Order: sequence, then C-alpha cells, then structure tokens
Amino acid sequence: MDIINVSGLEKEFRLGLRRRRVRAVAGIDFRVPERSIFGFLGPNGAGKTTTIKMLTGLIRPTRGEARVFGQPVPTVASRARLGFLPENPYVFPYLTPLEFVEMSGKLAGLRGSALRDRARRSLEQTGVWYAADRPVRRLSKGMLQRTGLAAALVSDPELLILDEPMSGLDPVGRKEVKDLILDQKRQGRTVFFSTHILGDVESLCDEVTIMRLGKIVVRGRLDELLRRDKELVSVTVRGESSELERYCRERGLTFSVVAGRSHIELEGATLRKELIERIVSLGLELEEVVSHHQTLEEIFVREAIVPGATKAAPQSPPGNP
Ligand SMILES: Nc1ncnc2c1ncn2[C@@H]1O[C@H](COP(=O)(O)OP(=O)(O)O)[C@@H](O)[C@H]1O
Ligand SMILES: [Mg+2]
Repeated sequence: MDIINVSGLEKEFRLGLRRRRVRAVAGIDFRVPERSIFGFLGPNGAGKTTTIKMLTGLIRPTRGEARVFGQPVPTVASRARLGFLPENPYVFPYLTPLEFVEMSGKLAGLRGSALRDRARRSLEQTGVWYAADRPVRRLSKGMLQRTGLAAALVSDPELLILDEPMSGLDPVGRKEVKDLILDQKRQGRTVFFSTHILGDVESLCDEVTIMRLGKIVVRGRLDELLRRDKELVSVTVRGESSELERYCRERGLTFSVVAGRSHIELEGATLRKELIERIVSLGLELEEVVSHHQTLEEIFVREAIVPGATKAAPQSPPGNP
C-alpha cells in the first residue's frame, strides 16, 4: 500500500504588485510505499518545502492532488497518524522542551499518563531529555531541532514527514537522527524526509526522488540508481606498447602516455577483464587498476544541478510565465 500518493501536484505563488507567477512545484507525481524510507532531495529552491506543505495541508495545491493514508489532504483523520517536523520548527521560547512536546502530544489527542510517557520517551529518543526542563530560548539550534523532532514523534505516528531533519546538527547529531529514522522503519513506520545534503540519504533510503526547479528529475530505488551507472575503470601500465595502443584504439578506449606510463580509461567489468588479460599476455607490467561506481553525488550533480543535463528539467527558472 502507498502511504502517500501525489499526482499532478502543482503550486503557483503570486508575487508582488504585478502578481508575478512563481511556479514552485510544476506538476509532480510520486508515491511513498508503506514501511519505507523515502528521501526527497534537491538543491535549495527546488520545491521540497512547498511540496511538504501541501502534503501536510498547510497550503493548498494550485492543481493536482496529494493523498495521505488514501485520504485527500487535509483531514483530521490523516493528521492524527502523522508526525511532522517543519523546516524551521517554531518552538515557543518560554516553554521547556517537555512542555512543548506535551503540548504537541495534547494536540495529537494524548492525555494523562500516556501523554507523560510518550513525551518522555520521545525526548529520550532525540537526546533532549537531560535538558527537558530548561527554557527553550537557552537551547542551541541543534537542541531546538531535536525538540521539534521529539514533538513530531510524540504521538508515535505511522508516518513521519520531516523537512530537513538533519539541518543544524553536528556530525554526531546527524548520525543519531539517521539511526532514529532507521529505527522508525524497523518498527514498521514510514519516513518521508527532505534534504539538500546527499550524504544524508546514502545507506538510509529505500527510495529517492530528486527535484530541481519544481520538477522531479531523478527517481527510483536507491540501490537501483546506484547500480544503474557503469563501473568506471582507470588502468595504468608501466612503459609504452604500440600493440597495446592499437588494441585500445580498436575498442574505442581512451589511451594516453604520460611520463613513461600508459593510461587507459574504460567502462564496465567485462572490458576491464579483457584488457588486463591482454596486458598480461603482452608481457607488460600492470601498475594500477582503479575502479569506482558512480555515487549518488555524481548522479545528483549531473541530473539536478548542471543546467540542461537532463531533458526532464525545465530550461528556465520557475516563475517565467
Ligand atoms: N510563499 C512563497 N511565495 C513565493 N514564492 C515562494 C514561496 N514559498 C516558496 N517560494 C519559492 O518557491 C521555490 C521553491 O521553494 P521551496 O519549496 O522552499 O524549496 P526547497 O524547500 O526545495 O528549498 C523557490 O523559488 C521559492 O523562492
Ligand atoms: Mg526547504
């Protein structure tokens, strides 16, 4: 089952006196399967927060539809099962983290000992319990972020929607939030989170979607995206050999000689094996073989940042009608 289902979703803002149109989200479709971790990626201004605001019912779509738990957003029923961390959580400065999280729990319908237990548990989970009775205004950005996260967790929701949950955290904090997300999945929960930092999604997400200028430019299962791209191999051989050079040119491999060494670049494991066998049979000395797979970082840079790198991406910025 899909927990989130988005089709043809679009948001246009009107700006200034001339009511200039800004298309923050330009018609997107995606679905989030139950019990998965879904990474919603894209550089700043891609339209992630605008999409999340439509998912949580904070703003209305201009066109299209978002469904959460099979219901059109917003409904009271869908809100109660959903934990939400906004991009810049507003935590009332004169409350303590405990008071703030309890207030969020009350809004989600918790009362009495269940409320107290859940508030304590979620503050422990996010590492704020030791500071739970200090005024929020004395807390660091990282502690505020964790308090916001505790508030999102308080009702033990089936679905967590987190807008940049690692922002403002140091490396240890980021790791803790990642572990928390993984733990949610282990408990059968679904986590949808946005980020503009790629390191946050590798080894964490089941599915990723990359947005750019209001459109989705890359989507798929993370393992498949990482596998889809070929292995890139650089081979270095000591000395020169006209036979090796001919062999490489015939196969269209990049061949060059620098400072008494031959360098060959190729793609794919089959060619690599063949080339190494040829080098050995020619009696040449193989000095180095370096291979690497394309990382998500490279896919991201190619598809999401480089203008015109993909046909799916619009060529002009949003807002030019
Ligand atoms: N309330 C608004 N009014 C006008 N433009 C907006 C508004 N909110 C967002 N935008 C514009 O929409 C685009 C997408 O913004 P946003 O969804 O915040 O991106 P992201 O979260 O991916 O950084 C940006 O160009 C932003 O300036
Ligand atoms: Mg944002």
